[in-house]
Amino acid sequence: MILVTGATGHVGRAVVGRLASLGHDVVAMVRGRQIAAECLPSEIALRVADYEDASALKRAFAGIDEVVLISSDGDASAVMRHHANAIEAAAAAGARHIIFTSIVDVDGRSPFYFAPVYRDAERRLAACSVPSTILRCGLYCEFILEYWLFSSQTSGELALPAGDGRVAPISRDDVAAAIAMVAADSDKSPKIHTVTGDLALDFGEITASYGETVARQVGYRPCSIDEYQALASAQFDDPWPCAFSTLCASIAEGRYSRVSDDFAVLTGRGPESFQDFLRRATSATEA
Ligand SMILES: NC(=O)c1ccc[n+]([C@@H]2O[C@H](COP(=O)([O-])OP(=O)(O)OC[C@H]3O[C@@H](n4cnc5c(N)ncnc54)[C@H](OP(=O)(O)O)[C@@H]3O)[C@@H](O)[C@H]2O)c1
Repeated sequence: MILVTGATGHVGRAVVGRLASLGHDVVAMVRGRQIAAECLPSEIALRVADYEDASALKRAFAGIDEVVLISSDGDASAVMRHHANAIEAAAAAGARHIIFTSIVDVDGRSPFYFAPVYRDAERRLAACSVPSTILRCGLYCEFILEYWLFSSQTSGELALPAGDGRVAPISRDDVAAAIAMVAADSDKSPKIHTVTGDLALDFGEITASYGETVARQVGYRPCSIDEYQALASAQFDDPWPCAFSTLCASIAEGRYSRVSDDFAVLTGRGPESFQDFLRRATSATEA
């Protein structure tokens, strides 16, 4: 039996759908039945728990062989606690394998706000009695589109403190496909996979692709962290201005430029290109 956390979210929902269609016995962990009813097929078995509630997590994981732990989001100290609670509960409940969605940049010198959070989770998994597979994911294509490119369409300019750093974006559906392949694999020995797109693009190339897709001129201008933080503070609540600007600092340091073929090895096909993702996403928005 495979339990997927964050099952009402984009990645978790896609993992549940893929595992169910492959015929696996899949259970969705959700925070509320109402939201589950809105976004999951009614035949999917549910367990209700919040990452904050250690005993609810332990009850939710009872009888589960494999836990797919989709990373939590929000304030860094809360997210760190959520991952710790879930890893501890999976071990206490007797799970035999944990799959965790980490990030490519967990380096101790990284400026990224969330790097210590993911480093902590990876350390806990390495020390845990339950074997785990860690998928270090690149930046999601959807994140780049929704948080950066959409807002650049009107002004025709994307200003980020990312310098000439490159990223190899991967779509959430492809992340879900990689997770489903790992969950379906009978080899449960500990592993770390790096799941990225197959091309590292700089933001000049990313904005040019976007401009081509939406038939507008969009350019990239590298800016200072202070300039971006002022802009982001007007748009987003804490901790996002800090999280996004330190993410850009990490990108500028080249920490997101790695291209890995782990996705192709896991799934037997190449990841969706960023250009194809943009066409798919913008045509879905227009429809
Ligand atoms: N690599 C990247 O570029 C990137 C970008 C953004 C995020 N991420 C990470 O990837 C994860 C998955 O992405 P996504 O797009 O699927 O996110 P999403 O759509 O926001 O889904 C997040 C899921 O986590 C659940 N959740 C949040 N807090 C919880 C808590 N305290 N207890 C139990 N469940 C909780 C949410 O439940 P509700 O539906 O009840 O809220 C939802 O099901 C994110 O959570 C974040 O850690 C990565």
